[in-house]
Amino acid sequence: MATASIRTDESVAEHSAERLICAVPQDKSILHRILVIASLSQSTVAVPTNAPIADDVQTTLKALRQLGVHIELSDAEIVIHGVGVRGLSTPDQPINCENSGTTARLLMGVLAGQSFDSTLIGDASLSRRPMQRLANILNDHLGAQIACSDEGTMPVRITGRELHDAHITLPVASAQMKSALLLAGLVAGGAVRIEEPAQSRDHTERMLSALGIDITREEGRAGIRKSSSIIAPNSFEYSVPGDLSSAAFFVVAAAILRLDVEIKNVGLNPTRTAFLDVLTDAGVPIFFSDVCEVHGERWGTISINARAAQSYKPIGIGADVFANLQDEIPILAVFAMFAGGTSSISGAAELRRKESDRIAALVENISKFGTPVREREDGLEIDGRTEFVPRQCQIDAFGDHRIAMAMAVAALRAPGEVTIPDASVVSISFPTFFAELTRIAAAAGKTITIT
Ligand code: S3P
Repeated sequence: MATASIRTDESVAEHSAERLICAVPQDKSILHRILVIASLSQSTVAVPTNAPIADDVQTTLKALRQLGVHIELSDAEIVIHGVGVRGLSTPDQPINCENSGTTARLLMGVLAGQSFDSTLIGDASLSRRPMQRLANILNDHLGAQIACSDEGTMPVRITGRELHDAHITLPVASAQMKSALLLAGLVAGGAVRIEEPAQSRDHTERMLSALGIDITREEGRAGIRKSSSIIAPNSFEYSVPGDLSSAAFFVVAAAILRLDVEIKNVGLNPTRTAFLDVLTDAGVPIFFSDVCEVHGERWGTISINARAAQSYKPIGIGADVFANLQDEIPILAVFAMFAGGTSSISGAAELRRKESDRIAALVENISKFGTPVREREDGLEIDGRTEFVPRQCQIDAFGDHRIAMAMAVAALRAPGEVTIPDASVVSISFPTFFAELTRIAAAAGKTITIT
């Protein structure tokens, strides 16, 4: 595992008046979905690509190949040759979902209604995450037959069978669960209606609708109508925007280093932008331009004009917005270290069930930097200071890509050296993260070395 060292080096300081342009990978959530949905179509779908594919997305790609889908991958595009909702073939061994919760949950929905049996396994982190909640809903409401381990985790054993129509009220707002249920309905040709306690990200609904599927959607509700089938043209191209959750690291880096940074062609789906509202309310000058719509998804350019920004106000995040910014909480917690006053994050217990226990991981690492932080069962409180100077330390990323990236951003305000031992974990969602961060780091008089 590579170690990243983020070290002060005044000779690289580049406090130019220029605006930095940062590139982010394509949206991970949308890429997972187009791979799965295109595989279930009877079309050939080309997805233009412009950067190395994140490990999690590769995991979905490999899983679909194992299910008999022919997928070509080159530097410029992914081409998926769909086999239809019932055209998948029996996997010869368990499907390894590695670190990817989205792969596991989407496949549970797709495989529940097939005419063959299958088993899903994962790495140590995914094997600790809950699978029983979704298995129970698929079993109890759609008539699936899915068994998890005694702890409600992987391996997930799926006995393929006919599913029936369902009307489900989800216990938590979860786009992975909602998407799995919609895909199960698509495969079964049945009607599935879902209500969520809050609106989760709606990429699946938008994509299915853009491909001509009979979908209903309104705030907190989604449904697929009976006998929907993918009626997209035989061959088409589907473009995927930049990942807003990856862009979040540079938005906060620009804010806390008082830089002007621009990120182009990034996804601005309203179910994902809540963290930008939080930062704007705290005083970060954020602007949008070139906003347009592609396949029902909003795209645009984000500019952070923080060069002249004054001090920032603390942030408050509660259960009401949690679903729409949960992946950004690690980097919002870093922002809170440099906002004057006490920031509070609550209603966020689901963070304990992500790639790591993110509440514990944040408390441990923020403390290492020297910021006072208090752990709560469902969140944390952070006493930030505008002029805070973090201590030199060694980070424990707990094998979690978003913890590693968030702490690398905090390190840009620390004099001396900060090391992140398992830094290569960033490739789960952002293989080129450190290459991009290096240019921002230079503006802060920092070098990044990976050894
Ligand atoms: C995702 C949904 C969210 C999010 C995850 C990606 C998706 O999880 O945290 O990183 O692509 O559907 P939940 O569905 O567990 O809320």
